Amino acid sequence: MFGEIDAGDWIMLFVRWAHAIGAVAWIGGSAFFAFVLRPVEKANPELIRPIMRPLGSVYRELVDISVIAIIVTGIVLMFDRLTGDDATAAWFIVLGVKLALALWMFYLVWRFRQSDFDPTAHPKGMVDRLSWLIGYNAMVFIGVVIFLLAAVLRVLFENSISS
Ligand code: HEM
Repeated sequence: MFGEIDAGDWIMLFVRWAHAIGAVAWIGGSAFFAFVLRPVEKANPELIRPIMRPLGSVYRELVDISVIAIIVTGIVLMFDRLTGDDATAAWFIVLGVKLALALWMFYLVWRFRQSDFDPTAHPKGMVDRLSWLIGYNAMVFIGVVIFLLAAVLRVLFENSISS
């Protein structure tokens, strides 16, 4: 059974695995921040607020590692698909949308950091508060959509090699 898997396949298997783990860690971590820590902080500000800053700085490292892993492995996956001629027009279009959404997520992270975002400070005005919420929730939302697109890519590719 393993006899059919050559060395290149094993490498791609690990690349795919690392890409998926990076994606899960990033989206999962963001979901935990947005849907668990934030609401708990709202309900118990005095309890959670003191630990938000240390949590945020460690979480930032997790995001850094995940994003680097996702980009490097994503590029390898892309070139692996491109070297055959099984990548159809539909596959390219879906990949393009996936990349655009990924870039948007990278931009959101970058913007959070530019604004020197401090999770312990309360957003001042309505606009601040709203953009914080939309920003963070948007990231999780976009991430979930990217997962769906990745599944679509896979089906498109598999259909293309079996036809
Ligand atoms: C530089 C950015 C990225 C590139 C170039 C890239 C490229 C790719 C490619 C080519 C595939 C294989 C698609 C196929 O099966 O035909 C893939 C799969 C996948 N990507 Fe990305 N991707 C990027 C960013 C992301 C991000 C930001 C996420 C999540 C938030 C993500 C999540 C996934 C997942 C979950 C899979 C499926 C892995 C599997 O089949 O086990 N990717 N990606």
